[in-house]
Amino acid sequence: MRIAITTSAKLSEEGRQYAKTFAEQLGYPYVERGDESLHKWFKQYDILYIWTSHGWEAQNGEGYRYAYHPGTAMFRYKRFKQGDIEPFLTAVQLQPGDSFLDTTLGFGADCLMASVVVGVRGKVMGVEKSPVLSFLFQQSQQLADLRLPELTAALKRIECVEQDALAFLKLQQDNSFDVVYLDPMFEESIEEATNFKTHKVFAAGDTLSKEWVQEALRVAKRRVVVKAHYSSSVFSDYGFEQQIRKTSKFHFGFIDKELEAGT
Ligand SMILES: C[S@@+](CC[C@H](N)C(=O)[O-])C[C@H]1O[C@@H](n2cnc3c(N)ncnc32)[C@H](O)[C@@H]1O
Repeated sequence: MRIAITTSAKLSEEGRQYAKTFAEQLGYPYVERGDESLHKWFKQYDILYIWTSHGWEAQNGEGYRYAYHPGTAMFRYKRFKQGDIEPFLTAVQLQPGDSFLDTTLGFGADCLMASVVVGVRGKVMGVEKSPVLSFLFQQSQQLADLRLPELTAALKRIECVEQDALAFLKLQQDNSFDVVYLDPMFEESIEEATNFKTHKVFAAGDTLSKEWVQEALRVAKRRVVVKAHYSSSVFSDYGFEQQIRKTSKFHFGFIDKELEAGT
């Protein structure tokens, strides 16, 4: 993927200088934007990382533009703090001090909830295959202020690795994370999810495989959790116990390690 760095139009001299130095330090080409449209640069580059007065954005040649956002985490966190049931947390069963691996980080909304629960003694790691999404996440997580100190601190504690999930899992020792999570892009479309379309443009579209699930089971100490469309065959194909939620189009499923070992 050919990637270069630029800035938004009419950005201050200071902002342009920041982007230029950043590009030099990370080894990306820097293109001087001026007041011109970005159009011509897409003959040379697939993606532009754009430094704006609000932080980093990514744009592709079709005009899709994307920036980090915490997604559903803000309202899920507020509802969780009010004592409401949080289906993801019910599925992963994390405790303070636990370690959690999301093999499909995206913008880390689920990791953020996990990070709140496992706290400073715990560990949350997310693997993301798309270089664009991992760049936006990693660069934004340190700058982000989610206006809720506990949530902002939880975001900063997430460790993001840009890699293919299976390749990453193969490098991990047996039982090295309490819970391993699998949440690839849905094959079935969920039309009401407004950010989903743009996320899909920049995301890796891999679907779950037997080897991916087997490796997750080897690396998990207690439980492997999957999220999928309610009608997906992944639950029965790979032996996940599907948690039925009548009001939601996506369901969680889990396999417990002890039960797996006993069968
Ligand atoms: C549905 S999103 C995950 C959302 C995430 N759980 C959250 O809470 O925001 C799926 C993500 O998995 C990533 N992905 C797909 N295949 C992958 C793979 N083989 N390895 C790592 N990440 C992958 C996609 O790029 C996408 O960002």
